[in-house]
Amino acid sequence: MASKDLNQSLADAKKAKEDEFYTQLTDIERELKHYKKHFRDKVVYCNCDDPRVSNFFHYFSYSFERVGLKKLITTCYKSQDVDLFSQNNSQVALYLEYLGDKNQNMVPDPAEIGAKTLNGDGDFRSPESIELLKQADIVVTNPPFSLFREYLAQLMKHNKKFVIVGNQNAISYKEVFRLIKDNKLWLGHNNGDMSFRVPDSYAPRTTRFWVDDKGQKWRSLGNACWFTNLDLAKRHEDLILYKTYTPEDYPTYDNYDAIEVSKVVDLPVDYDGIMGVPLTFLDKHNPDQFEILGLSGTDYPTTKKYGKKERVVDGVRKKSNTGTLGCVIRADSFGAGTHFDVGYPVKGIYRRLFIRRKGRTS
Ligand SMILES: C[S@@+](CC[C@H](N)C(=O)[O-])C[C@H]1O[C@@H](n2cnc3c(N)ncnc32)[C@H](O)[C@@H]1O
Repeated sequence: MASKDLNQSLADAKKAKEDEFYTQLTDIERELKHYKKHFRDKVVYCNCDDPRVSNFFHYFSYSFERVGLKKLITTCYKSQDVDLFSQNNSQVALYLEYLGDKNQNMVPDPAEIGAKTLNGDGDFRSPESIELLKQADIVVTNPPFSLFREYLAQLMKHNKKFVIVGNQNAISYKEVFRLIKDNKLWLGHNNGDMSFRVPDSYAPRTTRFWVDDKGQKWRSLGNACWFTNLDLAKRHEDLILYKTYTPEDYPTYDNYDAIEVSKVVDLPVDYDGIMGVPLTFLDKHNPDQFEILGLSGTDYPTTKKYGKKERVVDGVRKKSNTGTLGCVIRADSFGAGTHFDVGYPVKGIYRRLFIRRKGRTS
């Protein structure tokens, strides 16, 4: 294995220990209410979900008739920490198919429905799970974040519709961003803060961690996201723009051919060129209004390479020992009287998405 791959695997393995983030029913309801029309007469597969503890199973089994599902399938990975909810951790991979029950008005008991044991370990990449995936119309779950790239790639390979939880950092993974740019993947409705139950074995943390009055441990993320390729009404709503462009209000970059728009609400109504915006833009993106061209630090072209050794003294570039990592730098960082190595202490600004208005005049 190449050392880069090895490092990635080690990083993934480390993170894999912290994959047990259990989604709350309220978060699932708040998101899935926007997709109801998509589920009618469909086979839904939750492939990282122990029906004994998963709120995705709870949501879909409880609302099976109301939503008009055809079939619900869930499978779980055998290492799932079922002790988390004081149940027997049988350390087996389960498989369950539910076809609804017209008379029922409660969440069905997985044992009564007849949860079966899988032959393998329930890995979403295992042949058994892939056979079930092939039957599914829509996949809905919160998958292990450490395997997010692979998880998404598998869904795309099998041409599946999906609604899945992830972390905003995934947007800047090359392969994920390419899907977003090509309008094959987008953000769902509720992105930002989300809280998750975690196993008792998870170590306390100084932030975004608490124990409730029942002794249940919780963690929260400030950058949780729903990723989907199901159409949403909000993707067709125009952002209302009210600012007009002036060169004073919108500085340019030193190394990208675009203007800086540091807040999405400040997007100018009358600018036809390329604009750099924060990633939060994706939450408001309507593909009929804007075109996404690229993301800084990926394969989007810079107009200037700083190289490793460049220094600016009174606005004149000289040899230096430090460099930048392809970050976005405002042109006005290079005024007279400056004396610094590029990258330090010049501040690269956060990652920027490059976008352009559609239907522009030029
Ligand atoms: C973020 S948790 C979410 C659990 C559940 N989907 C929920 O939302 O409450 C991800 C789950 O995926 C399971 N998992 C880890 N690796 C897996 C794999 N290779 N295949 C299937 N599931 C896996 C973990 O055990 C964990 O329970």
